[in-house]
Amino acid sequence: MTRQNSFQAIEWTDSGLLLLDQRCLPHEQHYLCLQDAVSVAEAIRDMVVRGAPAIGITAAYAVVLSARQHLEHNPDNWQARVQQDVKKLAAARPTAVNLVWALQRMQQRLARSEAEPAACLLEEARQIHEADIEANHRMGGYGANLINKGDSVLTHCNAGALATGGYGTALGVIRSAWAAGKLVNVYAGETRPWLQGARLTAWELLQDDIPVTLVTDSASAFLMQGGKVQWVITGADRVAANGDVINKIGTYSLALACRYHGVKMMVAAPLSTLDMAMPDGQQVAIEQRPTDEILKFSGHALAAAGATAWNPVFDVTPASLVDYLVTEAGIVAAPDREKLAELHDQAPVGHSSSQNS
Ligand code: MRU
Repeated sequence: MTRQNSFQAIEWTDSGLLLLDQRCLPHEQHYLCLQDAVSVAEAIRDMVVRGAPAIGITAAYAVVLSARQHLEHNPDNWQARVQQDVKKLAAARPTAVNLVWALQRMQQRLARSEAEPAACLLEEARQIHEADIEANHRMGGYGANLINKGDSVLTHCNAGALATGGYGTALGVIRSAWAAGKLVNVYAGETRPWLQGARLTAWELLQDDIPVTLVTDSASAFLMQGGKVQWVITGADRVAANGDVINKIGTYSLALACRYHGVKMMVAAPLSTLDMAMPDGQQVAIEQRPTDEILKFSGHALAAAGATAWNPVFDVTPASLVDYLVTEAGIVAAPDREKLAELHDQAPVGHSSSQNS
């Protein structure tokens, strides 16, 4: 694997797929070793691993586990069994397009009926993983070029090495800009209710000795009003054909506040996050997670007994609020349908779009 981080969130080993259990961070670095695709689907659903590219890569390795298991135990109909596992994996989380994108890549490889199918599938999963890391480094460079020396940034959720194959999308840009000596302050929004910002982004940046200041999600507009940030930089779970960005809940509020305060909104996402089959963001299935994520904290009730909650975990930011979309193929300023079609046409084979799962 090229250009590794100080930690690996996803690692293929001979004894199984190692996943850093992100539910335990920042207090504990605990790895699960998974041996079958059904356990991996559960791990994706339960947020052991999360972040759009990371769940795609994880699902790709899960197809290898599935093929190994069924080749051994059900040699007569192993491919049908793998397809059943693929369905379970695709259903694990509905919003990130990278999950179905990676599974489609694995299915295409499966359909080639090669000798040593498990080894070929492993090769494919590794390619997906390595290409994601490369894409992130490229995006990091492009995004950092947009940033002026002396700027400060706010990021949301965790779009870092934990959420990708390595290096990160939004955090890749921040890492590159920091390494270039451009950034004064990096702010991270807590990202209620799962606290990806407080638990994961803060941990990840500090692993690289990048100082980070946490703010509550509700402090961001005030941070902008005080002129403390020039950029908001996020990742994406899906970018629709018209440039609408589907990302962690709160991204839309940030983009609105950015426009009002003249702060630039940058979205960094690989081409595998582009969904040309989805005309606009209103078509996407937004994941609703258990309301206990809001009503409780670490198992303890937070809210008044009897209160109900609404917990959509992603939102849709209209393309008109995005100043720059940064991909590994380059920067798209003020993304729209025409510019994304052009970007997609230039993209290398293997970056085809996919349907809502
Ligand atoms: O619910 P999560 O933690 O999986 O949500 C993750 C995000 O919203 C990220 O911003 C997105 O997947 C981009 S990760 C490079």
